[in-house]
Amino acid sequence: MVVTGGTCVTPSGTVEVDLGVRDGRVVALGSLAGDAHASRFDARGLLILPGIIDSQVHLREPGLEHKETISSGTAAALLGGVTTVLDMPNTIPPTTTPEALADKVARVSGRSWTDIAFFVGATPGNASTLGALERLPGCAGVKLFMGSSTGSLLVHEEAALAEAMSHGTRRMAVHAEDEARLRARRHLAETSAGDVRAHPVWRDEQTARLATDRCLRLARRFGRRVHILHVTTAEELDALAEHRDLATIEVTPQHLTLAAPDCYERLGTLAQMNPPIRDARHREALWSAIRSGLVDVVGSDHAPHSLEEKRRPYPQSPSGMPGVQTLLPLMLTHVHEGRLSLSRLVDLTAAGPARVYGMARKGRIAAGMDADLTLVDPKRRVRLTNAMMRTACGWSPFDGFETVGFPVAAFLRGRLAMCDGELVGEPSGHLVMFEENLPATSLVM
Ligand code: DOR
Repeated sequence: MVVTGGTCVTPSGTVEVDLGVRDGRVVALGSLAGDAHASRFDARGLLILPGIIDSQVHLREPGLEHKETISSGTAAALLGGVTTVLDMPNTIPPTTTPEALADKVARVSGRSWTDIAFFVGATPGNASTLGALERLPGCAGVKLFMGSSTGSLLVHEEAALAEAMSHGTRRMAVHAEDEARLRARRHLAETSAGDVRAHPVWRDEQTARLATDRCLRLARRFGRRVHILHVTTAEELDALAEHRDLATIEVTPQHLTLAAPDCYERLGTLAQMNPPIRDARHREALWSAIRSGLVDVVGSDHAPHSLEEKRRPYPQSPSGMPGVQTLLPLMLTHVHEGRLSLSRLVDLTAAGPARVYGMARKGRIAAGMDADLTLVDPKRRVRLTNAMMRTACGWSPFDGFETVGFPVAAFLRGRLAMCDGELVGEPSGHLVMFEENLPATSLVM
């Protein structure tokens, strides 16, 4: 198959080049229009990005299928131009044992619209198993919640944190909020008379900073690589800049796009997430860290809850918002508005997650890589609406938001999987392979 006439964002630059694809891989970049034997896809006028990877997605299956399923969440992903997702472990049961991981892996075939892998959760009791767990097929690595968020996963005592950090070697994904401070200040939420503007006051900057500092201290002690998810404060970024050898950094499109207090006044509890959306000073610090190269990954933290649940009075309302379908349109709009370049966008949403988590054959358009391609019409203007959202929760905090630049087609390992806002064929997602869990057969050459 040949994709002709598009403008490809490749490691060698953004170039008008045809792409040759065979057996699901990119085999050639060049002038291939003369190849009479190949089937063709005409990409004139379109940008061709490596398939977008969203490395922070809560698919809610098993146990919370009314919020999302593997099928609904990956359908939403693909319609948003995302071809690979990494799923978070705070399901019911949580993904903390080989059996729970195997159960998720068994749900992929014929149901996932994107390639996929699963994080396992650290608990105070499973540290000694993490080294083996993180190497199982389909495992993206270990996720550790230092502060309570949605679900029961939590590791906050010093000895338990040290145990978890000292078992296993893969980069560990960390939710950094300080549990002791959250508990000591919970009354600020309880006495807010239902006012969600108390959320970033309760879970304040210091809550994030304390946990990130502690995580960095332990990571240094054990030589453990860590990936700090959804970083939200200027002060954490300053600290993280001193630890580039061990720590990588993720931010979300919502922290880059929304700001307090406006988001809470406009959206109420729909804007409630952990760690919270903060004021414009922090948002600008995140942009500055995007520009300086400090940030490694933009991931959506797609965390769907039903509208009924979100309408409960704060703080009974759950934290989290959907985002896997809107990640790319939002970030393309930021490109259009001049906040980052297209190549930096690709670095943050494809090459970055592939590098941080050691994915095999993902993240770049290059010979021998999976032919995961996201085709974008850079001029297309789309007003996002709740009705467009394929997530089972049926809403977006960006309902009504005008975007410029939109994914119009996607190939998954060389097969057209989305075109003009429609899913094509059947769900054909596979497990992602990582450097750390390649099957033995692929190591024998
Ligand atoms: O707001 C959040 N929601 N933050 C998290 O860490 C978890 C997520 C969820 O699962 O709902």
